[in-house]
Order: sequence, then structure tokens, then C-alpha cells
Amino acid sequence: MRRTLLIGLMLLSGMIFSGCGNQESQTTENVSSSSEETTTSSESDTEATGKTLIAYFTWADNTYVENPEDVDVDATTSASVLPPGNVGLIASWLQEETGADLFSIQVEEKYSSDYDECLDRASEESAQDARPALATHVENMEQYDTIYLGYPNWWYATPMAILSFIDEYDFEGKQIVLFCSHGTGGLAGSVDAITEELPKNCSISGNVLGVYRPEVADSKDEVLAWLTEIQAELND
Ligand SMILES: Cc1cc2nc3c(=O)[nH]c(=O)nc-3n(C[C@H](O)[C@H](O)[C@H](O)COP(=O)(O)O)c2cc1C
Repeated sequence: MRRTLLIGLMLLSGMIFSGCGNQESQTTENVSSSSEETTTSSESDTEATGKTLIAYFTWADNTYVENPEDVDVDATTSASVLPPGNVGLIASWLQEETGADLFSIQVEEKYSSDYDECLDRASEESAQDARPALATHVENMEQYDTIYLGYPNWWYATPMAILSFIDEYDFEGKQIVLFCSHGTGGLAGSVDAITEELPKNCSISGNVLGVYRPEVADSKDEVLAWLTEIQAELND
């Protein structure tokens, strides 16, 4: 009900997710990611502890662009359809710095690369509280103690695929660190939506990275500064 109201409000205001700055923001841009059926760079197939996974959803890995050369990368509505995508770029910096395994969350049925069509489907999925089927799967989630979970703000929350991902695995007792890229809406209800979906005995860091879309490309220093804070928190 609350989601429906929010969506209604947004439609009324005619707000589109671009425009001026946001105080919560930091920034990012792109890198490539695997689109294989099963994705994870884990070297171990046995249970272990202390490992870190960086799992992320980005539109670019969840759409198909027939003619990438025709995409206007400067247009706010289309920039995200080419890999690595905003969240994908942030994830790649975190991976470089930590050496953690990287995992791209991908739906079975890709989204349109047309912004309005993608918005419409995302809105429907949100209204229906859908859990889109995933095409990529983590082979051995038990080995990871810490999960960095990255996502774009979609309709004031997260792509519903993030909730599909959470539902697929046992996150009990794990340490969760969230990072997000967004338009003018900031983190909005995303942290609450994810927190509600996770088991109660997860530890979710309150230090959530939010990077405003147009600032992503130049945000590496801020992202790494945030990572330093997180690592200090995790080592406490
Ligand atoms: C379907 C859809 C819904 C979105 N909804 C919001 C929103 O509610 N609030 C907001 O601030 N940005 C919204 N955005 C903008 C994205 O959060 C932003 O462009 C982000 O940087 C995309 O990251 P990505 O390139 O990794 O997908 C939306 C984008 C899409 C495609």
C-alpha cells in the first residue's frame, strides 16, 4: 500500500530520476561482468569462513542493447545500459581493492533497454511484490561471511531481483554491507526493503554508500574512503 502510494505520488509529480545533486551522494562508472548461467569467481568449493562476496545488480547486466554504438552515453536515461553500469563500476572498484569474489545478479528475463519500458516493468514488479527468476547463482554461499550487496535505487527501493537474491540463500549470521547508486531520490526506502527481507540475525552495517548517478564516474576516491571505514567497522 505504502509502495503504491509512493509510486502514485511520483507519477503525480512527474518526477523523473535525473537532475540535480544529492547530499547523500558519492559517485561511479563502468566495468564488465559475466553473464554466464552460474557466476562467481570463488576458488573454493568447500565450506570456509572469512571470505567476502561482492554481489550486485546493475541494469547493464540485465538488458540487451542491439546497437551499443547508437547509445548516447551522455543521456541520463540511457547511460546505464552499457556495461559496467553504475553499480557495476562501484562493485569493480571494491573488488580490486578487496580481492573479494564478484557476482553479478541477473534475471532470466532481461529488462528492456528503453528507459520508459524498463520503468514500467519495474513499477509493475514492485506493485506486485514480485520475485523475478534469476539466471545467475552463487555456487557456495556458505563460504562467505561478509556480503557487499550493491543495487540501484529503483522506484524508491531496489530492483525486485535483489529480493529474489536474498530469498535464494541463507543469510543467517552474515555481515551485510550495502551500496547503492541512485538518481535524485537517494537511498529512499531501499535499506528498509532489504532489511525487511533479510533474516533478523544478520548484521547490516548502518554505513550505506549512496552514489548519485552523474557523480559515479568520479567517485572512486570516495568509494575507497567509505570502504576503509567499513573495513575498520568490520575489524572492530
Ligand atoms: C527502472 C528504474 C527505476 C529507477 N527509480 C529510481 C528512483 O526511484 N529513485 C532514484 O533516485 N533513481 C531511480 N532510478 C535511477 C537509478 O537508480 C540510477 O540511474 C542508478 O545510477 C542506476 O544504476 P545502474 O547503472 O547500476 O543500473 C531508476 C532507474 C531505473 C532504470
